Amino acid sequence: MRDGNAELGRSGAHYPVLRMRRLRGHERLRALVRETQLGVDDLVMPLFVRPGEGERRPIGSMPGQYQLSIDEAVRQCRQIEGLGIPAVILFGIPQSKDPRGSEAYDDQGIVQRAVRAIKAEVPGLLVITDVCFCEFTDHGHCGVVNSRYGRDDVDNDATLKLLVAEAVSHVRAGADVVAPSGMMDGMIAALRSGLDGAGFEHIPILSYAAKYASAFYGPFRDAAESAPRFGDRRTYQMDPANGWEALREVRADVLEGADMLMVKPALAYLDVVHRVKSAFPEVPLAAYNVSGEYAMIKAAARQGWIDERTVVLESLTSIKRAGADFILTYFAMDVARWLGA
Ligand code: PBG
Repeated sequence: MRDGNAELGRSGAHYPVLRMRRLRGHERLRALVRETQLGVDDLVMPLFVRPGEGERRPIGSMPGQYQLSIDEAVRQCRQIEGLGIPAVILFGIPQSKDPRGSEAYDDQGIVQRAVRAIKAEVPGLLVITDVCFCEFTDHGHCGVVNSRYGRDDVDNDATLKLLVAEAVSHVRAGADVVAPSGMMDGMIAALRSGLDGAGFEHIPILSYAAKYASAFYGPFRDAAESAPRFGDRRTYQMDPANGWEALREVRADVLEGADMLMVKPALAYLDVVHRVKSAFPEVPLAAYNVSGEYAMIKAAARQGWIDERTVVLESLTSIKRAGADFILTYFAMDVARWLGA
């Protein structure tokens, strides 16, 4: 054990010479010494697209968020670009679901049509697509389900082939970045070689590298109509109790060719964000401020129990402070307005 004096000696001055409050006495001074900045450039806005026209269906558990038909999504993308937000990430609610989620890799699928429309109308906005199957399969799991593993479970390697078809189809439609979120082993290697083989070696992969089996996705599953019909996702998403394991996931994805990494959810996993950034400071890191994190703040703010704006800015700043370079958040448009004002 170090003694107290040695500690004081190491850190230099102490009270009464050291007075931490001196630098807190003036807002300009606080601004000058502030370590973490949250900017519009740090934000990605998630959007849910659905079939139809002129549709804006409110998502009950996510006040202020909607399932949008493609024309409405395009309108919203114009606003998003106008606010200076660099990117959207798209999730699709398909016309029809089947066991293999075939609309996910159909060039006429909902996501592909939305990407084409957005890139045609709002070409300056970066379009990221979520590459997964849970919204497209009738069983709600993130891939092909069979009993190869001795129980009904997602077949890893069969799913990889479909993920490649899905990613290539998204990019053919004009996606700028693909973000595989299915937590299949080898998904980054498969996507990289699949994209390269299709002539898309210039398209970056944002890997949902450390994605936990989290109850904070509850409202998203309402929004995307993607709750599993049986079981849960614990055989492919990570155990919330594990922190070091995230480094194995992340290292594998980096070695397989991930251009950017993601930790998801964000707020209950800031230790993971910090560990990943510390271990791989050179790789851009995103954190996903997920639907449940959004819903909790919205609910408490609606009760008048917390101040929404201050709590949102504090939460997102803490995600950056932990080590995220950018944040996927349903608050992106609000934050852009607040920061711009
Ligand atoms: C999977 C996917 C999910 C989310 C993003 N991509 C849901 C899941 O894994 O069940 C959750 C996002 C959120 O909760 O906001 N396609």
